[in-house]
Amino acid sequence: MAQPRPASAQWWRSAVIYQVYVRSFADGDGDGTGDLAGVRARLPYLAELGVDALWFTPWYVSPLKDGGYDVADYRAIDPAFGTLAEAEKLIAEARELGIRTIVDIVPNHVSDQHSWFRAARAAGPGSPERELFHFRPGRGPDGALPPNDWPSQFVGSTEPVWTRLPDGEWYLHLFTPEQPDLNWAHPVVRQEHEDILRFWFERGVAGVRIDSAALLAKDPDLTDLADGPEPHPFVDRDELHDVYRSWRAVADDYDGVFVGEVWLPDAERFARYLRPDELHTAFNFSFLSCPWDAERLRESIDTTLAEHAPVGAPATWVLCNHDVTRTATRYGRADTGFDFAAKAFGTPTDLALGARRARAAALLSLALPGAVYLYQGEELGLPEADIPLDRIQDPMHARSGGTDPGRDGCRVPLPWTADAPHAGFGPGEEPWLPQPAGWAAYAADGQAADPDSMLALYRRAIALRPRFGQDPLTWLPAPDGVLAFTRAPGTVCVVNLADRPADLPVPGELLLASGPLDPRGRLPSDTAVWLRAPGL
Ligand code: NOJ
Repeated sequence: MAQPRPASAQWWRSAVIYQVYVRSFADGDGDGTGDLAGVRARLPYLAELGVDALWFTPWYVSPLKDGGYDVADYRAIDPAFGTLAEAEKLIAEARELGIRTIVDIVPNHVSDQHSWFRAARAAGPGSPERELFHFRPGRGPDGALPPNDWPSQFVGSTEPVWTRLPDGEWYLHLFTPEQPDLNWAHPVVRQEHEDILRFWFERGVAGVRIDSAALLAKDPDLTDLADGPEPHPFVDRDELHDVYRSWRAVADDYDGVFVGEVWLPDAERFARYLRPDELHTAFNFSFLSCPWDAERLRESIDTTLAEHAPVGAPATWVLCNHDVTRTATRYGRADTGFDFAAKAFGTPTDLALGARRARAAALLSLALPGAVYLYQGEELGLPEADIPLDRIQDPMHARSGGTDPGRDGCRVPLPWTADAPHAGFGPGEEPWLPQPAGWAAYAADGQAADPDSMLALYRRAIALRPRFGQDPLTWLPAPDGVLAFTRAPGTVCVVNLADRPADLPVPGELLLASGPLDPRGRLPSDTAVWLRAPGL
């Protein structure tokens, strides 16, 4: 029987994990692109913020056709970011500061510049090299029509998921044509990914984020979607669980942990990925997508906790990532939920309102039981930026026919120093994406000196968070529109989402507040507090 592990081995159950989008975090060498030197120089900042781990979006060799999610070599760092030796140093230096590293593995597809795809292209129809991918003849006269009717996984994309090569065969790519899908029914594909996992665990990483984790397995006949909904030909197929059970055995050799990118509306199907011999955790996209509404949030929290409980997995709480609208902007709009399909240019936004809510949401998410993911720049309260049309690089924009603004607005290089060129992002060239006017006002140095800043709030909240302990959540009676709960005895979180001030539902000593109480000691609208309330 397995021995119980010491508590530190369970760090991921309640960790604060900071997402580093390397390209936009900090530019160490001055070429306008963020890099590992930039991250290493900012490790003290991350330690001071108090995070337990860093998740790096893909840092591997890549033509960057999809921000690095088009990997040409999973065992090498892109030269624009640094070297493998530097990554090893970074992993070790972070660990010395008590910060673990999580890498991002992209198993569904590779770059069209990956050696396997180049070989498959060259080898031609019928070759064993093509069996590692999904190559098929087309339909219709001369095979001129794509092999099936599957839609792009970039919501809003009007582009096909099949591309035809000059030799007449088509290959499948659920995302861009530069991201051919791998054939997960092939043993070589499975073996290769287990070797890649070992490669990174051997280098000291503590965990792996799994990109598009529910999309890998495909119906062997590549049946049309229109032919019947069950089982889905490429989403959440049962064969996947066997893959993740093997991965779990690899991770267990290193005490490594997984976090899956699993976008599934069905709570029961979602929880299957979190069974004890599969993934440790998965991102909670229902919380991320939830509107700023007390009832809806409470329901999302309850559903999340209920779906995780039977499998014994901790929940994760995510407000933002590199794919979605920044929190301060989203909460300042009429529609405060997130939906890829609803993204549009020119959506009216009340940024002051959004910022107030983002502060309250920070205290809410950091008080909940489970792990919290914090996307870089959220601790600075950055809004979504408008990127000039001719500078947008995200393929989601072009593939929507230009209607979707794409995801670059949340990927703008960070402001570090208010009075330095490029707000201190780097010492030389223009950042790869333009920083909007006023970006320096969000700079980390200015916020570090301001006790009322978002950065100060995040620092204090992360430091105080252990007070909530490991206990489950208990809701407290509260007026309509107010969420109040306790976890550890005597520590309470109250959030007012109503449009008027509310009396605090319990008396207590104020530990932390996202904004000032009103003169009558009431909690204003869109404000959250943490209280010490002995006796509860
Ligand atoms: C999810 C990633 O988060 C996103 O950025 C990427 O475009 C797709 N997967 C495809 O890899």
